[in-house]
Amino acid sequence: MKITGETKVIGIFGYPVRHSLSPLMQNAALMDLGLNYIYLPFEVRPEQLETAIKGIRALGISGVNITIPHKEKVIPFLDEVTEEASLIGSVNTIENKNGKLIGHNTDSMGYIRSLREDGGFEPRGKNILVIGAGGAARGIIAGLSMNDVSVIFIANRTVEKGKALAEEFKNKFRQINFSALPLSSLKDPEILSQVDLVVNATSMGLEEGAPDVEFSLTPPHTLVSDIIYKPAVTPFLKKAQDAGRKTLGGLGMLVYQGAISLEIWTSQKAKVEVMRNSLTPFLAPCKS
Ligand SMILES: NC(=O)c1ccc[n+]([C@@H]2O[C@H](COP(=O)([O-])OP(=O)(O)OC[C@H]3O[C@@H](n4cnc5c(N)ncnc54)[C@H](OP(=O)(O)O)[C@@H]3O)[C@@H](O)[C@H]2O)c1
Repeated sequence: MKITGETKVIGIFGYPVRHSLSPLMQNAALMDLGLNYIYLPFEVRPEQLETAIKGIRALGISGVNITIPHKEKVIPFLDEVTEEASLIGSVNTIENKNGKLIGHNTDSMGYIRSLREDGGFEPRGKNILVIGAGGAARGIIAGLSMNDVSVIFIANRTVEKGKALAEEFKNKFRQINFSALPLSSLKDPEILSQVDLVVNATSMGLEEGAPDVEFSLTPPHTLVSDIIYKPAVTPFLKKAQDAGRKTLGGLGMLVYQGAISLEIWTSQKAKVEVMRNSLTPFLAPCKS
């Protein structure tokens, strides 16, 4: 990578940010495309967020990704927010369009692209079980809703949170049937026999076990997806595979959301395989 007086800067604001895989995959994609850009991590403390956002304009930074804990709090500091980001209530990508800061959310589009391209799954008309009602679940539910699914069951540990989410989306997408369920429904034959896709959008991964779904009660064609990407086959996916179900890991969502962000900043189509391959060494299981 050759830095010149014309090199454009993009990056990521988060706190902490040093765990982020985005610099790795974005710089790999930029180099592959031969673009004179560099993608840098910026550790932005919560109390410095507003100043850091003003710095995007002041320094002529072309755009940034936004990660934990700033995704919701950044909205008041932007000039415009896309319809999708406003529906999700969070921004993960800022575009600097001649000094005007536009907030996008590419997580939900990233998930849908991964479903279609990696999972071979077309959401239109399908019945979906989403486990979780946090930020990631919200993005996935928004993406599925905008892609005309038929039914969305939201199963969450805190049922009230699932109910609030279902009510909010019911009012926005009246043609979709939303319902909130307790985690005990993950063994309910009446629910499971209807679903075409089961998504784990909780933070229950390796450490805390996985949501306990009785996959044998789902139809044989059901796709099972986990948005956690390390390990590639989570305990949740392993259990689904043992029951003979097709599975989709979370790496695709990470890579596609990044590819869509890069397209917003540079108007160039990123090669997702280059981005995915750049992460492979960092996602390999740790050797003890
Ligand atoms: N692949 C990707 O690109 C991608 C993108 C975004 C996020 N993610 C991953 O998605 C996961 C969720 O992120 P988030 O931002 O949505 O987090 P979040 O807003 O904190 O939500 C966490 C969700 O997990 C549930 N949960 C947590 N611990 C649980 C437990 N012990 N038992 C049952 N439910 C539990 C919570 O239920 P309650 O409501 O009851 O607390 C809530 O629904 C994280 O692991 C994150 O790394 C991946």
